[in-house]
Amino acid sequence: MKKYGIFYASSTGRTAKAAEAIAAALDIPASDIHNVADTAPSELGSYDVAILGSPTYAAGDMQPHMEDFIDGAQALDLSGHKLAFFGTGDDTMSRTFCSAVGDMAKALSHTGAVQIGEFDARGYVFDDSEAEIAPGVYAGLLLDDINHPELTSGRIEAWAAKLRAE
Ligand SMILES: Cc1cc2nc3c(=O)[nH]c(=O)nc-3n(C[C@H](O)[C@H](O)[C@H](O)COP(=O)(O)O)c2cc1C
Repeated sequence: MKKYGIFYASSTGRTAKAAEAIAAALDIPASDIHNVADTAPSELGSYDVAILGSPTYAAGDMQPHMEDFIDGAQALDLSGHKLAFFGTGDDTMSRTFCSAVGDMAKALSHTGAVQIGEFDARGYVFDDSEAEIAPGVYAGLLLDDINHPELTSGRIEAWAAKLRAE
Protein backbone atom coordinates (compact mmCIF):
# COMPACT_ATOMS: atom_id res chain seq x y z
CA MET A 1 0.00 0.00 0.00
CA LYS A 2 1.24 3.47 -0.91
CA LYS A 3 2.19 5.79 1.94
CA TYR A 4 0.55 9.21 1.58
CA GLY A 5 1.55 12.41 3.37
CA ILE A 6 -0.05 15.83 3.23
CA PHE A 7 1.97 19.06 3.46
CA TYR A 8 -0.11 22.21 3.69
CA ALA A 9 0.15 25.91 4.44
CA SER A 10 -2.76 27.93 5.73
CA SER A 11 -3.23 31.49 7.02
CA THR A 12 -6.91 31.46 8.00
CA GLY A 13 -7.67 27.74 8.26
CA ARG A 14 -9.42 26.93 4.99
CA THR A 15 -6.54 24.96 3.49
CA ALA A 16 -5.96 23.20 6.81
CA LYS A 17 -9.61 22.12 6.75
CA ALA A 18 -9.26 20.92 3.15
CA ALA A 19 -6.12 18.98 4.12
CA GLU A 20 -8.11 17.17 6.82
CA ALA A 21 -10.92 16.33 4.40
CA ILE A 22 -8.45 14.99 1.82
CA ALA A 23 -6.78 12.96 4.56
CA ALA A 24 -10.15 11.48 5.55
CA ALA A 25 -10.89 10.56 1.92
CA LEU A 26 -7.55 8.76 1.59
CA ASP A 27 -7.40 7.25 5.11
CA ILE A 28 -4.29 9.28 5.93
CA PRO A 29 -3.63 9.38 9.70
CA ALA A 30 -3.23 12.74 11.49
CA SER A 31 0.46 12.01 12.07
CA ASP A 32 0.99 12.21 8.29
CA ILE A 33 -0.63 15.65 7.93
CA HIS A 34 2.07 18.32 8.18
CA ASN A 35 1.83 22.09 8.46
CA VAL A 36 4.83 23.25 6.43
CA ALA A 37 5.40 26.10 8.89
CA ASP A 38 7.11 23.58 11.16
CA THR A 39 8.17 20.80 8.79
CA ALA A 40 11.48 20.24 7.01
CA PRO A 41 11.18 19.84 3.22
CA SER A 42 13.22 16.61 3.43
CA GLU A 43 10.14 15.00 5.07
CA LEU A 44 8.67 14.78 1.55
CA GLY A 45 11.03 11.87 0.94
CA SER A 46 9.30 9.81 3.65
CA TYR A 47 6.25 9.30 1.47
CA ASP A 48 5.45 7.44 -1.74
CA VAL A 49 2.92 10.15 -2.53
CA ALA A 50 3.31 13.64 -1.05
CA ILE A 51 0.29 15.92 -1.42
CA LEU A 52 1.05 19.64 -1.20
CA GLY A 53 -1.60 22.27 -0.56
CA SER A 54 -1.47 26.06 -0.48
CA PRO A 55 -3.90 28.94 -0.66
CA THR A 56 -3.18 31.76 -3.11
CA TYR A 57 -2.51 35.23 -1.72
CA ALA A 58 -1.37 38.66 -2.88
CA ALA A 59 -1.08 38.84 -6.66
CA GLY A 60 -1.32 35.10 -7.14
CA ASP A 61 1.42 33.95 -4.78
CA MET A 62 1.78 30.86 -2.61
CA GLN A 63 1.21 31.32 1.12
CA PRO A 64 4.61 32.48 2.52
CA HIS A 65 5.32 29.33 4.58
CA MET A 66 4.73 27.22 1.48
CA GLU A 67 7.03 29.48 -0.53
CA ASP A 68 9.85 28.83 1.97
CA PHE A 69 9.09 25.10 2.06
CA ILE A 70 9.12 24.88 -1.75
CA ASP A 71 12.42 26.81 -1.88
CA GLY A 72 13.96 24.06 0.25
CA ALA A 73 12.22 21.23 -1.57
CA GLN A 74 13.53 22.31 -4.98
CA ALA A 75 16.99 21.01 -4.09
CA LEU A 76 15.74 17.50 -3.23
CA ASP A 77 16.05 14.40 -5.37
CA LEU A 78 12.53 12.95 -5.22
CA SER A 79 13.03 10.30 -7.90
CA GLY A 80 10.76 7.34 -7.21
CA HIS A 81 8.22 9.53 -5.39
CA LYS A 82 4.96 11.05 -6.58
CA LEU A 83 3.67 14.56 -5.90
CA ALA A 84 0.11 15.87 -6.05
CA PHE A 85 -1.13 19.42 -5.50
CA PHE A 86 -4.23 21.15 -4.20
CA GLY A 87 -5.18 24.67 -3.30
CA THR A 88 -7.94 26.85 -1.96
CA GLY A 89 -8.84 30.19 -3.46
CA ASP A 90 -11.55 32.63 -4.40
CA ASP A 91 -12.74 32.61 -8.01
CA THR A 92 -13.71 36.29 -7.85
CA MET A 93 -9.93 36.92 -7.88
CA SER A 94 -10.37 35.80 -11.41
CA ARG A 95 -6.97 36.42 -12.96
CA THR A 96 -5.03 34.40 -10.39
CA PHE A 97 -7.55 31.81 -9.18
CA CYS A 98 -5.65 29.17 -7.18
CA SER A 99 -2.46 30.10 -9.04
CA ALA A 100 -0.35 28.73 -6.18
CA VAL A 101 -1.27 25.20 -7.32
CA GLY A 102 0.46 25.77 -10.64
CA ASP A 103 3.38 27.55 -9.00
CA MET A 104 4.04 24.63 -6.64
CA ALA A 105 3.91 22.11 -9.48
CA LYS A 106 6.20 24.18 -11.68
CA ALA A 107 8.70 24.79 -8.90
CA LEU A 108 9.01 21.07 -8.16
CA SER A 109 9.10 19.88 -11.76
CA HIS A 110 12.87 19.25 -11.65
CA THR A 111 12.97 17.09 -8.52
CA GLY A 112 12.59 13.79 -10.38
CA ALA A 113 9.16 13.15 -8.83
CA VAL A 114 6.23 12.12 -10.99
CA GLN A 115 3.40 14.61 -10.72
CA ILE A 116 -0.10 13.15 -10.46
CA GLY A 117 -3.60 14.41 -9.69
CA GLU A 118 -4.31 16.69 -12.62
CA PHE A 119 -7.94 17.74 -12.43
CA ASP A 120 -10.54 19.96 -14.05
CA ALA A 121 -12.05 23.10 -12.57
CA ARG A 122 -15.63 22.88 -13.77
CA GLY A 123 -18.11 24.87 -11.71
CA TYR A 124 -15.86 27.85 -11.12
CA VAL A 125 -15.92 31.07 -13.14
CA PHE A 126 -12.56 32.76 -13.62
CA ASP A 127 -10.37 34.22 -16.33
CA ASP A 128 -6.92 32.86 -15.65
CA SER A 129 -4.84 30.69 -13.34
CA GLU A 130 -1.23 29.59 -13.25
CA ALA A 131 -2.70 26.20 -12.35
CA GLU A 132 -3.99 25.67 -15.91
CA ILE A 133 -1.43 23.46 -17.63
CA ALA A 134 -3.47 22.71 -20.77
CA PRO A 135 -6.89 23.99 -21.87
CA GLY A 136 -9.29 22.84 -19.15
CA VAL A 137 -6.63 20.82 -17.32
CA TYR A 138 -5.27 21.96 -13.98
CA ALA A 139 -2.15 20.96 -12.06
CA GLY A 140 -4.24 19.71 -9.16
CA LEU A 141 -7.39 20.05 -7.11
CA LEU A 142 -8.77 23.60 -6.91
CA LEU A 143 -11.21 24.39 -4.11
CA ASP A 144 -13.28 27.52 -3.54
CA ASP A 145 -15.09 27.12 -0.26
CA ILE A 146 -16.00 30.82 -0.23
CA ASN A 147 -18.16 30.95 -3.36
CA HIS A 148 -18.83 27.25 -4.05
CA PRO A 149 -18.83 25.31 -0.78
CA GLU A 150 -21.35 22.87 -2.28
CA LEU A 151 -18.68 21.61 -4.71
CA THR A 152 -15.95 20.90 -2.17
CA SER A 153 -16.74 17.45 -0.82
CA GLY A 154 -17.61 15.94 -4.22
CA ARG A 155 -14.43 17.30 -5.75
CA ILE A 156 -12.33 15.95 -2.88
CA GLU A 157 -13.91 12.51 -3.21
CA ALA A 158 -13.40 12.44 -6.99
CA TRP A 159 -9.80 13.66 -6.71
CA ALA A 160 -8.98 11.15 -3.98
CA ALA A 161 -10.30 8.34 -6.18
CA LYS A 162 -8.13 9.59 -9.06
CA LEU A 163 -5.04 9.72 -6.82
CA ARG A 164 -5.66 6.17 -5.63
CA ALA A 165 -5.77 5.01 -9.25
CA GLU A 166 -2.56 6.86 -10.22
C1 LIG B 1 -5.33 39.52 0.45
C2 LIG B 1 -5.89 38.29 -0.19
C3 LIG B 1 -5.50 37.95 -1.47
C4 LIG B 1 -6.00 36.80 -2.11
N1 LIG B 1 -5.62 36.52 -3.38
C5 LIG B 1 -6.16 35.44 -4.01
C6 LIG B 1 -5.80 35.14 -5.36
O1 LIG B 1 -5.03 35.85 -6.01
N2 LIG B 1 -6.36 34.04 -5.93
C7 LIG B 1 -7.23 33.22 -5.26
O2 LIG B 1 -7.68 32.23 -5.82
N3 LIG B 1 -7.58 33.49 -3.97
C8 LIG B 1 -7.07 34.57 -3.34
N4 LIG B 1 -7.43 34.83 -2.03
C9 LIG B 1 -8.36 33.94 -1.34
C10 LIG B 1 -7.64 32.92 -0.46
O3 LIG B 1 -6.71 32.17 -1.19
C11 LIG B 1 -8.67 31.97 0.14
O4 LIG B 1 -9.47 32.66 1.06
C12 LIG B 1 -8.04 30.76 0.80
O5 LIG B 1 -9.01 29.75 0.95
C13 LIG B 1 -7.42 31.06 2.15
O6 LIG B 1 -6.80 29.89 2.63
P1 LIG B 1 -6.30 29.74 4.14
O7 LIG B 1 -7.50 29.97 5.03
O8 LIG B 1 -5.83 28.34 4.25
O9 LIG B 1 -5.23 30.74 4.37
C14 LIG B 1 -6.93 35.97 -1.41
C15 LIG B 1 -7.31 36.31 -0.09
C16 LIG B 1 -6.81 37.45 0.51
C17 LIG B 1 -7.26 37.78 1.92
